[in-house]
Amino acid sequence: MKSKTVDCDILIVGGGMAGCGAAWEARYWSRNSRIVLVEKANVDRSGAVAMGLSAINTYMGMRWDENTPEGFVNYVKNDLMGIIRDDLVYDVARHVDSTVHLFDEWGLPIMRDKNGHYLREGKWQIMIHGESYKAIVAEAAKKAASEIYNRVMITRLIKDANNKMAGAVGFDVRDGTFYVFKSKVVIVSAGGASQIYRPRSSREGAGRTWYPHWASGSAYGLLIEAGATMTMMEARFSVPRYKDGYGPVGAWQLLLKAKQTNALGQDSFELHKEEIRKLFNGKMGYADVVPTPTNLRVLSSLMELKAGRGPIYMHTEKVLTRENEELGWEDFLDMTISQALVWAGQNVDPMKEPSEILPSEPYAMGSHATENGAWASGPEDISSSLSNGDRSKSYFWGYNRMSTVDGLFVAGDACGASPHKFSSGSFTEGRIAAKSAVKYLMDHSDEHLQIDNSTIERMKLNLYEPIERYNKNKYEITAGKVSPDMMWYDQGLARLQKLMDEYAAGWGSWYTTSDVMLNNALKLIKMLKEDFVNYAAAENYHQLLRTWELWHRILTAEAIVVHMLYRKETRWPGYYSRSDFPALDDDGWRVFVNSRYDSKAQSWEVFSVPVIDLVVRK
Ligand code: FAD
Ligand code: ADX
Repeated sequence: MKSKTVDCDILIVGGGMAGCGAAWEARYWSRNSRIVLVEKANVDRSGAVAMGLSAINTYMGMRWDENTPEGFVNYVKNDLMGIIRDDLVYDVARHVDSTVHLFDEWGLPIMRDKNGHYLREGKWQIMIHGESYKAIVAEAAKKAASEIYNRVMITRLIKDANNKMAGAVGFDVRDGTFYVFKSKVVIVSAGGASQIYRPRSSREGAGRTWYPHWASGSAYGLLIEAGATMTMMEARFSVPRYKDGYGPVGAWQLLLKAKQTNALGQDSFELHKEEIRKLFNGKMGYADVVPTPTNLRVLSSLMELKAGRGPIYMHTEKVLTRENEELGWEDFLDMTISQALVWAGQNVDPMKEPSEILPSEPYAMGSHATENGAWASGPEDISSSLSNGDRSKSYFWGYNRMSTVDGLFVAGDACGASPHKFSSGSFTEGRIAAKSAVKYLMDHSDEHLQIDNSTIERMKLNLYEPIERYNKNKYEITAGKVSPDMMWYDQGLARLQKLMDEYAAGWGSWYTTSDVMLNNALKLIKMLKEDFVNYAAAENYHQLLRTWELWHRILTAEAIVVHMLYRKETRWPGYYSRSDFPALDDDGWRVFVNSRYDSKAQSWEVFSVPVIDLVVRK
């Protein structure tokens, strides 16, 4: 097998929104460093923004009396039912506008209102003609990075003899070349995870999900195996989307003011408000805040669906006119083309009839209305202004957005407890991480990595093991793919999705679980891991990519389950409910759940960390 070693100063894993932001900012602060970005697809069209987007969902704007970073922190904390890292969210909010202004300067067409201002979608969002959003952002990264390795998947991070970050290994998904990237600083920005839970789409439509199929949980898998502390993995996300095409709802509700109702035309949330208040209002009155938290909106739809008063409808027909019809279609054609295809294929005229809305299968991610990811150090200036004594130290340990592994930074979906970043905030967080990564590099300039070559050799053997296994066992295949000694990635994926759906609160179990169910899930995940280690097989490099994606998904799923087991309450009903702890408990559980995985012992340490309120709640 061909091997290539690349020495870098800063290694960026994943060239999506956060990765591109990191490359751009690292170059700004460090003219001479060797900045290397590795992307498993091609940066021009990779990641969640591959198809384009129709809005920038995080933008403060010039109306500072209204849209302050403090106001944003309050909004986000309400949406996440009281648990966020104020320092991280505030940090994104205070810098995000400069990112949006860069996008504008680089040629991203941002819609304007009649006064020439950016056209608002809602209070925090603006509308764009975003079909080429990713290509525009990637161009900046391409100009900034010393080298970009497209079509190289990173499978594992490397630590040196002193347990510090030392780089990563991976392979070229086209020709199989083995890559070793040696770097004192690594920024992981490898995106979120779809397809951990059984998708609602099936058979030939199975690839269709909201978060894309290629969002493989690598950000989590890589970090978990490296021993980084993870946070809030239990808060996985089910999002209201147009049925079958997964078209987003924001522009419809916020800009076009379409209403969502049950089949009888009633507002689901109003119907269940009292019931929701009783169980989930907590100390902050979550059911009464405006806007209603995303998960409570999902919950009320689920309650109506369970009661048999579905489907839930988005009343496009009441708001679309000849004048704004184009805006409605463009919303989908910019970012979820399949939704426009569903309309065309099913003869739906959105001006004449409503469309169905359905909560999606759950995803793991950290940039939308949820907060899975690594536990990261926050901005120093905010922590140092605290008067909370020692408690504040748990929010800061040296470098902004550094994980608990020395030299390993995180951004975008990879960074936990920092929700509502979306595209602009993820790029911004990449910039924040890169700036402090450059500082780390300068502070550690006299240190040298001590990488054990035998570790790299072991990683290499392990990486290609599925291909070796196939070559050894291929003559034992009986019919089709049936083989006594091999497990294919799609077989493993089907097992994972089934167990997560049935036991860990997927859509098939009405997003509900319990201690017993979660322990069942854990047992099955352990068996799946054993089978992966002993039987995973790949016929070619494409299957090898899918196989390692499966491994990252399995680790992500395991983290989700151990976190859900630990949290003995229902904090985000709609995302998931615990039948054995059906209510929200602010006294006992307004805390972060954090975990650390020991990959040698294959065991998890799970613990809670207090929430510190830094911004006064209004
Ligand atoms: P991504 O942008 O997904 O980037 C992750 C990158 O890592 C990808 O390029 C991936 O290929 C790469 N990668 C993964 N694993 C590996 C590996 N092992 N090795 C190498 N590379 C790897 N946001 C908005 O602001 N406005 C919107 O209107 C909006 N609409 C959306 C609509 C849809 C359909 C979706 C899916 C998302 C939408 N978002 C929107 C959210 C936004 O796209 C995300 O918040 C953002 O892209 C997250 O950035 P990221 O860098 O963390 O992840
Ligand atoms: S997108 O990221 O894929 O575009 P979506 O369309 O759901 O997601 O949301 C876009 C933005 O609108 C996000 O900031 C989201 O929180 C917000 N949003 C969506 N629906 C509502 C609603 N009913 N009320 C308030 N905010 C909403």
